[in-house]
Amino acid sequence: MLCRARISPSSMATRELHYSSKIHAASTSSLFSRLLLSLLCLVSLFLCFSLFRNDTASPSLTYSVVPQNSDGNCNYSDGRWIYYPTVRSPPRYDHTCKEIFKGWNCIASNKSNAIDILKWRWKPYGCDLPPFDPLRFLENFRDTNIGFVGDSLNRNMFVSLFCALKRVSSEVKKWRPVGADRGFTFVNYNLTIAYHRTNLLARYGRWSASSDSGALQSLGYKEGYRIDVDIPEGTWVEAPKFHDILIFNTGHWWWAPSKFDPVKSPMLFFEKGEHVTPPIAPDAGLDMVLRHMVSFVEKNARPGANLFFRTQSPRHFEGGDWDQGGTCSRSQPLAPQEVEQLFSLKNNGTNVETRLVNEHLHKALKDSNFRILDITHMSEFRADAHPSTAGGKRHDDCMHWCLPGLTDTWNDVFVAHLNSIRVRN
Ligand SMILES: *[C@@H]1O[C@H](CO)[C@@H](O)[C@H](O)[C@H]1NC(C)=O
Ligand SMILES: *[C@@H]1O[C@H](CO)[C@@H](O)[C@H](O)[C@H]1NC(C)=O
Ligand SMILES: *[C@@H]1O[C@H](CO)[C@@H](O)[C@H](O)[C@H]1NC(C)=O
Ligand SMILES: *[C@@H]1O[C@H](CO)[C@@H](O)[C@H](O)[C@H]1NC(C)=O
Repeated sequence: MLCRARISPSSMATRELHYSSKIHAASTSSLFSRLLLSLLCLVSLFLCFSLFRNDTASPSLTYSVVPQNSDGNCNYSDGRWIYYPTVRSPPRYDHTCKEIFKGWNCIASNKSNAIDILKWRWKPYGCDLPPFDPLRFLENFRDTNIGFVGDSLNRNMFVSLFCALKRVSSEVKKWRPVGADRGFTFVNYNLTIAYHRTNLLARYGRWSASSDSGALQSLGYKEGYRIDVDIPEGTWVEAPKFHDILIFNTGHWWWAPSKFDPVKSPMLFFEKGEHVTPPIAPDAGLDMVLRHMVSFVEKNARPGANLFFRTQSPRHFEGGDWDQGGTCSRSQPLAPQEVEQLFSLKNNGTNVETRLVNEHLHKALKDSNFRILDITHMSEFRADAHPSTAGGKRHDDCMHWCLPGLTDTWNDVFVAHLNSIRVRN
């Protein structure tokens, strides 16, 4: 493909030359232009080969795209969105990728700004964030297993990566490794990516007083959810032994009173099989879960594994929460001052959990082996990039992201981190 792209401009030039030589000197032109043609062909071939060699073999070329500033570490989170009138070409994938969940396929559901979403590019202040190269990625991560562990927002990111890779390497085996919700092996590269569905990371299930006549009942609890802060959910408990690279997230479900109603169905925390007494609030429960899960993963991860924790994905409900008629109908990213208005903790707005979750994550991960994949700030701007009414639900979807869309940029950050780890090692 690369070769064809490089040859065609020069063959066009040849045609032009051929044409003009005909006009000026009909008799000698034929030999001359044939010579010229051969020469150009040789040059093209040479160009082609040198490109091809660079593309497959040279590690220096592979890593020269790693963005770096003076201290070698770019803060990808610190930047701004720039509008380009044309979509990057070729797109890394489009709406025909079968793995895109219907409610996220904004192009297929005719969301009015579905294409415009793709024209905004993130520019970190200290460096560039190039779109990752899927073919090079497959080459670099041969014989590697990559697991996304978390809620549907991690699935959103997983699908983006899948579609980008599938576009350049279509031979895939669909299967569900070690409890995964879905997974694929790119057979020509023996590269597996999988999504492990888990809302709270910890195991949880319905609890009622009749099944437990202990202290909780005497405190007046009748119904709720039992959350075992020290037991990983079965969907991913085997994932650390299987994957070489893991990307975790949790957050939305800890601030979801529609499911974990503080009165009707509260979160009830258990540690070592006993209720935590006195009962604790969800945010304190989150701290306990994070502490246990971080240490579980560190103990059980494969030697040399790369562990990532993704920061919270912001929601953009305005005019009420999801079940109160809240909407996200903007067609452009927010301005910086609008971002602060919507997300600052001071304002305690509808989407206040975004930055609260991150405070808990940063505290829990401070002295851990996890790298933080910080996508929050860049995503806070993108009120325009949710499915909104195109999500196909009764309420607007201002939580997930259109695909193709924002999580493509998350994957650029993810791959840039991976590449810089490879450079350092
Ligand atoms: C990176 O930038 C973000 C957004 O401006 C900021 O919140 C964060 O603290 C920065 N991180 C570091 C390590 O400086
Ligand atoms: C989107 O528009 C196309 C062409 O107008 C139409 O065929 C299709 O049914 C529309 N899809 C939805 C989900 O409205
Ligand atoms: C595929 O990769 C895995 C490591 O993820 C390795 O254990 C396995 O041997 C590889 N298979 C082949 C056929 O190379
Ligand atoms: C934030 O707002 C919610 C209602 O939306 C309220 O219940 C809560 O007490 C507020 N928190 C603070 C710290 O003001």
